[in-house]
Amino acid sequence: MAGIILELDGVKKRYPVYGRLGHFLPPVNFISAMKDVSFRLREGETYGIVGESGSGKTTTGRVIAGLTGADGGRVLYRGEDMLKSSKKAWKRFRRDIQFIFQDPFSSLDPRERAGEILEESLIIQRIGGTGDRRKMILGAYAGVHRDRPFMRLPPRQVRQVRG
Ligand SMILES: Nc1ncnc2c1ncn2[C@@H]1O[C@H](COP(=O)(O)OP(=O)(O)OP(=O)(O)O)[C@@H](O)[C@H]1O
Ligand SMILES: [Mg+2]
Repeated sequence: MAGIILELDGVKKRYPVYGRLGHFLPPVNFISAMKDVSFRLREGETYGIVGESGSGKTTTGRVIAGLTGADGGRVLYRGEDMLKSSKKAWKRFRRDIQFIFQDPFSSLDPRERAGEILEESLIIQRIGGTGDRRKMILGAYAGVHRDRPFMRLPPRQVRQVRG
């Protein structure tokens, strides 16, 4: 059986609810978004989380991607506890874990060029020099696009070319 890539073990997450004076006073209540979430994801598996609105699906994704912390439990990525990991380890996890948003255009800066957006993550991860990065970006696009000048286009103008 293939190895376990991701494991959540009793993960809890609650959000504070503040009163009329906002953050000046302690929270008046807490909303429990994840009560005791446990599951395992094996290599090659696709795992879907289904539930009614407000049941904690997005929160689960945010905790896994490190966009929000948890209040208890363990999140293991290839055996390493992500909740206890250093910033340096997180930089490594981020090479492998990413959010794909329902509306990708609202998460991309319309003022940036498509090439810059793609290159940014390679720069942050210190992958390759300018020439290598350009080759990687063009290579990644080769399978889905034919319009080579896409690098200079704003994200909304980049279209998949079929045929
Ligand atoms: N930043 C936040 N601050 C306070 N409460 C939050 C926050 N984010 C989510 N919540 C609350 O946590 C609970 C779980 O929300 P979450 O967005 O994870 O649910 P969901 O399953 O993704 O819902 P949907 O199907 O509507 O996307 C809800 O009660 C929500 O109101
Ligand atoms: Mg959601």
